[in-house]
Amino acid sequence: MKFTAILPTDLAVGAMLPFDVFTRDGTLLLTRGSLVGSEATRLYLLENAQRVAQRRHQLSGSVFERTQKLAERLARIEEDHRPGVADAAWVARVRALARDLVELVDEDAHAAFAAMHLDIHHRYDVLHHIVAAQVCALLGLLARLNGGERISLVCAALTHDLGLLGDRARVEASECLSDSARRLIREHCSKGVALLQAAGVDDGLWLKVVAEHHERLDGSGYAGLCADQLDMPSRVMSLADSFSAMLRHRPYRERIEAGNALADLYADPQGKYDQGLVSHLVNELGLYPPGSVLRLASNETAVSIRPTPGEISHPVIAAIADRHGRPMYRAVTRDSRNEENAIIGLLPLEKVGPVRKLLAACWNR
Ligand SMILES: [Fe+2]
Ligand SMILES: [Fe+2]
Repeated sequence: MKFTAILPTDLAVGAMLPFDVFTRDGTLLLTRGSLVGSEATRLYLLENAQRVAQRRHQLSGSVFERTQKLAERLARIEEDHRPGVADAAWVARVRALARDLVELVDEDAHAAFAAMHLDIHHRYDVLHHIVAAQVCALLGLLARLNGGERISLVCAALTHDLGLLGDRARVEASECLSDSARRLIREHCSKGVALLQAAGVDDGLWLKVVAEHHERLDGSGYAGLCADQLDMPSRVMSLADSFSAMLRHRPYRERIEAGNALADLYADPQGKYDQGLVSHLVNELGLYPPGSVLRLASNETAVSIRPTPGEISHPVIAAIADRHGRPMYRAVTRDSRNEENAIIGLLPLEKVGPVRKLLAACWNR
Protein backbone atom coordinates (compact mmCIF):
# COMPACT_ATOMS: atom_id res chain seq x y z
CA MET A 1 0.00 0.00 0.00
CA LYS A 2 1.17 3.52 -0.77
CA PHE A 3 0.83 5.98 2.10
CA THR A 4 0.67 9.77 2.23
CA ALA A 5 0.77 12.41 4.96
CA ILE A 6 -2.37 13.58 6.79
CA LEU A 7 -2.99 17.30 6.30
CA PRO A 8 -4.14 19.66 9.11
CA THR A 9 -7.30 20.40 7.14
CA ASP A 10 -8.16 16.65 7.07
CA LEU A 11 -8.83 16.49 10.81
CA ALA A 12 -11.10 18.43 13.15
CA VAL A 13 -11.77 17.92 16.84
CA GLY A 14 -15.25 16.47 17.31
CA ALA A 15 -15.42 15.18 13.72
CA MET A 16 -15.01 11.63 12.47
CA LEU A 17 -11.99 10.42 10.54
CA PRO A 18 -12.76 10.53 6.80
CA PHE A 19 -10.30 7.65 6.16
CA ASP A 20 -8.44 4.82 7.93
CA VAL A 21 -5.32 5.97 9.76
CA PHE A 22 -2.09 3.96 9.98
CA THR A 23 1.08 4.16 12.06
CA ARG A 24 4.34 5.02 10.29
CA ASP A 25 5.13 1.31 9.95
CA GLY A 26 1.79 0.67 8.22
CA THR A 27 -0.23 -0.82 11.12
CA LEU A 28 -3.91 0.14 11.17
CA LEU A 29 -4.40 2.60 14.04
CA LEU A 30 -7.96 3.93 13.67
CA THR A 31 -10.71 3.13 11.20
CA ARG A 32 -12.67 5.63 9.13
CA GLY A 33 -15.53 7.06 11.19
CA SER A 34 -13.58 7.05 14.48
CA LEU A 35 -14.05 10.24 16.47
CA VAL A 36 -11.20 12.73 16.84
CA GLY A 37 -12.03 13.40 20.48
CA SER A 38 -9.49 16.04 21.47
CA GLU A 39 -6.90 18.48 20.18
CA ALA A 40 -4.20 16.24 21.65
CA THR A 41 -5.46 13.33 19.52
CA ARG A 42 -5.56 15.54 16.44
CA LEU A 43 -1.98 16.69 16.96
CA TYR A 44 -0.82 13.15 17.70
CA LEU A 45 -2.31 11.86 14.46
CA LEU A 46 -0.84 14.72 12.43
CA GLU A 47 2.64 14.01 13.79
CA ASN A 48 2.62 10.23 13.99
CA ALA A 49 0.09 8.80 11.55
CA GLN A 50 -0.46 8.50 7.82
CA ARG A 51 -3.24 7.55 5.44
CA VAL A 52 -3.45 5.43 2.29
CA ALA A 53 -2.73 7.49 -0.81
CA GLN A 54 -5.92 7.81 -2.80
CA ARG A 55 -6.27 5.79 -5.92
CA ARG A 56 -6.15 8.29 -8.73
CA HIS A 57 -9.32 8.22 -10.75
CA GLN A 58 -9.12 7.15 -14.34
CA LEU A 59 -9.87 10.76 -15.19
CA SER A 60 -6.91 13.02 -14.63
CA GLY A 61 -6.97 16.31 -12.79
CA SER A 62 -7.74 17.65 -9.35
CA VAL A 63 -10.84 16.82 -7.31
CA PHE A 64 -12.25 20.20 -8.40
CA GLU A 65 -11.76 19.39 -12.10
CA ARG A 66 -12.96 15.79 -11.81
CA THR A 67 -16.12 16.94 -10.03
CA GLN A 68 -16.84 19.26 -12.95
CA LYS A 69 -16.65 16.17 -15.19
CA LEU A 70 -19.20 14.39 -12.97
CA ALA A 71 -21.64 17.17 -13.80
CA GLU A 72 -21.13 16.47 -17.51
CA ARG A 73 -21.83 12.78 -16.92
CA LEU A 74 -25.03 13.45 -14.98
CA ALA A 75 -26.20 15.87 -17.67
CA ARG A 76 -25.89 13.06 -20.25
CA ILE A 77 -27.54 10.52 -17.92
CA GLU A 78 -30.51 12.86 -17.47
CA GLU A 79 -30.71 13.54 -21.21
CA ASP A 80 -30.60 9.80 -21.92
CA HIS A 81 -33.47 8.98 -19.56
CA ARG A 82 -36.53 8.10 -21.59
CA PRO A 83 -39.51 6.61 -19.80
CA GLY A 84 -39.94 3.05 -21.05
CA VAL A 85 -36.48 3.06 -22.63
CA ALA A 86 -34.12 3.55 -19.67
CA ASP A 87 -32.85 0.09 -18.65
CA ALA A 88 -30.26 -1.73 -16.57
CA ALA A 89 -27.43 -0.03 -18.45
CA TRP A 90 -28.85 3.39 -17.50
CA VAL A 91 -29.17 2.28 -13.84
CA ALA A 92 -25.56 1.03 -13.92
CA ARG A 93 -24.41 4.47 -15.13
CA VAL A 94 -26.14 6.09 -12.13
CA ARG A 95 -24.47 3.63 -9.73
CA ALA A 96 -21.04 4.18 -11.29
CA LEU A 97 -21.51 7.95 -11.01
CA ALA A 98 -22.52 7.57 -7.35
CA ARG A 99 -19.38 5.55 -6.57
CA ASP A 100 -17.14 8.12 -8.27
CA LEU A 101 -18.89 11.00 -6.50
CA VAL A 102 -18.40 9.31 -3.10
CA GLU A 103 -14.73 8.76 -3.92
CA LEU A 104 -14.25 12.46 -4.71
CA VAL A 105 -16.09 13.58 -1.57
CA ASP A 106 -13.92 11.24 0.50
CA GLU A 107 -10.79 12.58 -1.18
CA ASP A 108 -11.59 16.28 -0.65
CA ALA A 109 -15.17 17.18 0.19
CA HIS A 110 -14.39 20.91 0.18
CA ALA A 111 -12.92 20.92 -3.34
CA ALA A 112 -15.81 18.78 -4.59
CA PHE A 113 -18.42 21.06 -3.04
CA ALA A 114 -16.71 24.23 -4.29
CA ALA A 115 -16.64 22.93 -7.86
CA MET A 116 -20.43 22.63 -7.94
CA HIS A 117 -21.10 25.65 -5.73
CA LEU A 118 -19.22 27.89 -8.17
CA ASP A 119 -20.67 26.29 -11.31
CA ILE A 120 -23.01 28.63 -13.17
CA HIS A 121 -22.97 26.76 -16.47
CA HIS A 122 -24.83 23.50 -15.92
CA ARG A 123 -28.61 23.47 -15.74
CA TYR A 124 -30.45 23.52 -12.43
CA ASP A 125 -31.34 19.83 -12.21
CA VAL A 126 -27.74 18.71 -12.74
CA LEU A 127 -26.31 21.04 -10.11
CA HIS A 128 -29.18 20.46 -7.68
CA HIS A 129 -28.83 16.67 -7.90
CA ILE A 130 -25.03 16.68 -7.59
CA VAL A 131 -24.90 19.05 -4.60
CA ALA A 132 -27.63 17.04 -2.85
CA ALA A 133 -25.65 13.86 -3.58
CA GLN A 134 -22.45 15.41 -2.20
CA VAL A 135 -24.23 16.37 1.02
CA CYS A 136 -25.67 12.85 1.26
CA ALA A 137 -22.21 11.32 0.74
CA LEU A 138 -20.78 13.55 3.47
CA LEU A 139 -23.59 13.15 6.00
CA GLY A 140 -24.01 9.46 5.21
CA LEU A 141 -20.45 8.95 6.39
CA LEU A 142 -20.95 11.05 9.52
CA ALA A 143 -24.25 9.26 10.24
CA ARG A 144 -22.33 5.96 10.09
CA LEU A 145 -24.30 4.43 7.22
CA ASN A 146 -22.48 1.40 5.86
CA GLY A 147 -20.85 1.53 2.43
CA GLY A 148 -23.79 -0.05 0.59
CA GLU A 149 -26.37 2.18 2.27
CA ARG A 150 -24.29 5.23 1.47
CA ILE A 151 -24.14 4.35 -2.25
CA SER A 152 -27.91 3.71 -2.30
CA LEU A 153 -28.50 7.07 -0.63
CA VAL A 154 -26.27 8.85 -3.16
CA CYS A 155 -28.03 7.08 -6.05
CA ALA A 156 -31.32 8.35 -4.62
CA ALA A 157 -29.94 11.89 -4.32
CA LEU A 158 -28.75 11.82 -7.96
CA THR A 159 -32.23 10.84 -9.17
CA HIS A 160 -34.62 12.18 -6.52
CA ASP A 161 -36.31 14.69 -8.84
CA LEU A 162 -36.43 12.37 -11.85
CA GLY A 163 -40.22 12.56 -11.64
CA LEU A 164 -40.05 16.30 -12.27
CA LEU A 165 -37.46 16.46 -15.06
CA GLY A 166 -39.95 16.24 -17.91
CA ASP A 167 -42.31 18.72 -16.27
CA ARG A 168 -39.77 21.31 -15.09
CA ALA A 169 -40.57 23.79 -17.87
CA ARG A 170 -44.32 23.64 -17.14
CA VAL A 171 -43.78 24.00 -13.38
CA GLU A 172 -41.51 27.00 -13.83
CA ALA A 173 -43.49 28.72 -16.57
CA SER A 174 -44.42 31.60 -14.26
CA GLU A 175 -43.36 33.22 -11.00
CA CYS A 176 -46.46 31.93 -9.23
CA LEU A 177 -47.10 28.21 -9.05
CA SER A 178 -50.42 27.32 -10.69
CA ASP A 179 -52.67 24.59 -9.29
CA SER A 180 -51.55 22.18 -12.01
CA ALA A 181 -47.89 22.97 -11.27
CA ARG A 182 -48.48 22.30 -7.57
CA ARG A 183 -50.06 18.97 -8.43
CA LEU A 184 -47.07 17.99 -10.59
CA ILE A 185 -44.74 18.88 -7.72
CA ARG A 186 -46.73 16.89 -5.18
CA GLU A 187 -46.76 13.85 -7.45
CA HIS A 188 -43.10 13.90 -8.50
CA CYS A 189 -41.85 11.69 -5.62
CA SER A 190 -44.12 8.75 -6.47
CA LYS A 191 -43.67 9.37 -10.20
CA GLY A 192 -39.89 9.25 -9.72
CA VAL A 193 -40.16 5.92 -7.90
CA ALA A 194 -42.28 4.50 -10.72
CA LEU A 195 -39.78 5.68 -13.37
CA LEU A 196 -36.88 4.15 -11.46
CA GLN A 197 -38.70 0.85 -11.01
CA ALA A 198 -39.54 0.84 -14.72
CA ALA A 199 -35.83 1.25 -15.45
CA GLY A 200 -35.09 -1.79 -13.28
CA VAL A 201 -34.12 -0.25 -9.93
CA ASP A 202 -34.95 -2.81 -7.24
CA ASP A 203 -32.83 -1.30 -4.44
CA GLY A 204 -35.36 -0.78 -1.64
CA LEU A 205 -33.39 1.96 0.12
CA TRP A 206 -32.84 3.95 -3.10
CA LEU A 207 -36.58 3.82 -3.87
CA LYS A 208 -37.65 4.61 -0.29
CA VAL A 209 -35.42 7.67 -0.08
CA VAL A 210 -36.75 9.03 -3.39
CA ALA A 211 -40.31 8.43 -2.17
CA GLU A 212 -39.66 10.26 1.12
CA HIS A 213 -37.35 13.09 0.05
CA HIS A 214 -39.98 15.79 0.70
CA GLU A 215 -40.97 14.45 4.14
CA ARG A 216 -40.14 16.64 7.14
CA LEU A 217 -39.77 15.75 10.83
CA ASP A 218 -42.72 17.99 11.78
CA GLY A 219 -45.05 16.09 9.45
CA SER A 220 -45.37 18.94 6.94
CA GLY A 221 -44.12 16.89 3.97
CA TYR A 222 -46.23 15.71 1.06
CA ALA A 223 -47.15 12.34 2.63
CA GLY A 224 -47.29 13.71 6.19
CA LEU A 225 -44.79 11.23 7.64
CA CYS A 226 -43.46 12.29 11.08
CA ALA A 227 -40.13 12.05 12.86
CA ASP A 228 -40.63 8.52 14.22
CA GLN A 229 -41.46 7.28 10.70
CA LEU A 230 -38.37 8.77 9.05
CA ASP A 231 -35.11 6.87 9.36
CA MET A 232 -31.64 8.29 8.93
CA PRO A 233 -31.21 8.04 5.13
CA SER A 234 -34.51 9.88 4.53
CA ARG A 235 -33.58 12.53 7.11
CA VAL A 236 -30.23 13.07 5.36
CA MET A 237 -31.93 13.29 1.96
CA SER A 238 -34.53 15.77 3.19
CA LEU A 239 -31.85 18.10 4.54
CA ALA A 240 -29.59 17.68 1.49
CA ASP A 241 -32.47 18.43 -0.90
CA SER A 242 -33.49 21.59 0.95
CA PHE A 243 -29.94 22.91 1.31
CA SER A 244 -29.10 22.25 -2.34
CA ALA A 245 -32.33 23.86 -3.55
CA MET A 246 -31.72 27.01 -1.49
CA LEU A 247 -28.41 27.67 -3.32
CA ARG A 248 -30.01 28.25 -6.73
CA HIS A 249 -32.41 30.81 -8.11
CA ARG A 250 -35.78 29.58 -9.38
CA PRO A 251 -38.44 31.63 -11.14
CA TYR A 252 -40.61 31.48 -8.00
CA ARG A 253 -37.90 32.12 -5.37
CA GLU A 254 -34.52 33.80 -4.92
CA ARG A 255 -31.32 31.92 -4.14
CA ILE A 256 -29.74 32.16 -0.69
CA GLU A 257 -25.99 32.35 -0.06
CA ALA A 258 -24.74 29.00 1.23
CA GLY A 259 -23.74 30.29 4.68
CA ASN A 260 -27.12 31.99 5.13
CA ALA A 261 -28.88 28.82 3.96
CA LEU A 262 -27.06 26.85 6.67
CA ALA A 263 -28.03 29.50 9.24
CA ASP A 264 -31.71 29.19 8.21
CA LEU A 265 -31.57 25.40 8.47
CA TYR A 266 -29.88 25.71 11.85
CA ALA A 267 -32.56 28.09 13.13
CA ASP A 268 -35.31 25.73 11.84
CA PRO A 269 -38.16 27.23 13.93
CA GLN A 270 -40.65 24.54 12.87
CA GLY A 271 -38.38 21.60 13.64
CA LYS A 272 -38.37 20.25 10.08
CA TYR A 273 -34.80 18.92 10.02
CA ASP A 274 -32.62 16.61 12.12
CA GLN A 275 -30.56 19.13 14.06
CA GLY A 276 -27.74 16.65 14.65
CA LEU A 277 -27.32 16.42 10.88
CA VAL A 278 -27.54 20.20 10.46
CA SER A 279 -24.77 20.63 13.07
CA HIS A 280 -22.62 18.10 11.20
CA LEU A 281 -23.14 20.03 7.98
CA VAL A 282 -22.26 23.37 9.59
CA ASN A 283 -19.11 21.84 11.10
CA GLU A 284 -18.09 20.32 7.78
CA LEU A 285 -18.73 23.35 5.57
CA GLY A 286 -18.29 26.24 8.03
CA LEU A 287 -20.16 29.52 8.06
CA TYR A 288 -18.65 30.37 4.66
CA PRO A 289 -18.93 27.10 2.73
CA PRO A 290 -16.20 26.43 0.12
CA GLY A 291 -16.72 28.50 -2.99
CA SER A 292 -18.46 31.37 -1.17
CA VAL A 293 -17.42 34.66 -2.77
CA LEU A 294 -16.34 37.17 -0.13
CA ARG A 295 -15.68 40.88 0.18
CA LEU A 296 -12.79 41.58 2.53
CA ALA A 297 -12.22 44.67 4.70
CA SER A 298 -9.34 45.51 2.32
CA ASN A 299 -11.99 45.60 -0.46
CA GLU A 300 -10.37 42.64 -2.17
CA THR A 301 -12.59 39.83 -3.50
CA ALA A 302 -11.80 36.37 -2.15
CA VAL A 303 -13.18 32.83 -2.20
CA SER A 304 -13.59 30.52 0.77
CA ILE A 305 -11.39 27.45 0.23
CA ARG A 306 -12.29 25.35 3.27
CA PRO A 307 -13.18 25.85 6.94
CA THR A 308 -10.35 26.18 9.42
CA PRO A 309 -10.76 23.24 11.85
CA GLY A 310 -12.26 24.52 15.09
CA GLU A 311 -12.83 28.04 13.68
CA ILE A 312 -15.85 27.85 11.43
CA SER A 313 -16.17 31.64 11.13
CA HIS A 314 -12.57 32.06 9.86
CA PRO A 315 -12.21 29.94 6.73
CA VAL A 316 -9.05 29.47 4.70
CA ILE A 317 -9.50 32.05 1.94
CA ALA A 318 -7.72 33.20 -1.23
CA ALA A 319 -7.92 36.65 -2.82
CA ILE A 320 -8.84 36.53 -6.51
CA ALA A 321 -9.42 40.23 -7.36
CA ASP A 322 -7.68 43.31 -5.99
CA ARG A 323 -9.30 46.25 -4.19
CA HIS A 324 -10.17 47.84 -7.56
CA GLY A 325 -11.87 44.66 -8.77
CA ARG A 326 -9.03 43.76 -11.14
CA PRO A 327 -8.37 40.00 -11.41
CA MET A 328 -5.23 38.81 -9.63
CA TYR A 329 -2.51 37.13 -11.67
CA ARG A 330 -2.93 34.15 -9.35
CA ALA A 331 -5.03 33.47 -6.24
CA VAL A 332 -3.24 34.58 -3.06
CA THR A 333 -3.97 32.98 0.32
CA ARG A 334 -5.09 35.47 2.99
CA ASP A 335 -5.52 34.98 6.74
CA SER A 336 -9.16 35.82 7.44
CA ARG A 337 -8.33 36.37 11.15
CA ASN A 338 -6.32 39.51 10.29
CA GLU A 339 -8.24 42.77 10.54
CA GLU A 340 -7.59 43.91 6.99
CA ASN A 341 -8.66 40.51 5.61
CA ALA A 342 -11.79 40.33 7.75
CA ILE A 343 -14.84 39.10 5.83
CA ILE A 344 -17.33 41.97 5.60
CA GLY A 345 -19.82 40.63 3.08
CA LEU A 346 -20.87 38.00 0.58
CA LEU A 347 -20.88 38.57 -3.18
CA PRO A 348 -22.91 36.81 -5.88
CA LEU A 349 -21.26 33.84 -7.58
CA GLU A 350 -21.28 35.72 -10.89
CA LYS A 351 -18.63 38.04 -9.42
CA VAL A 352 -15.99 35.41 -10.09
CA GLY A 353 -16.72 35.37 -13.82
CA PRO A 354 -13.57 37.22 -14.95
CA VAL A 355 -11.33 35.17 -12.65
CA ARG A 356 -12.86 31.74 -13.21
CA LYS A 357 -9.53 30.41 -14.56
CA LEU A 358 -7.90 31.03 -11.16
CA LEU A 359 -10.42 29.01 -9.23
CA ALA A 360 -9.46 25.39 -9.91
CA ALA A 361 -5.94 26.11 -8.71
CA CYS A 362 -7.30 27.18 -5.30
CA TRP A 363 -8.20 23.56 -4.54
CA ASN A 364 -5.10 21.91 -6.05
CA ARG A 365 -3.05 20.14 -3.47
FE1 LIG B 1 -38.19 16.94 -5.07
FE1 LIG C 1 -34.90 18.25 -5.13
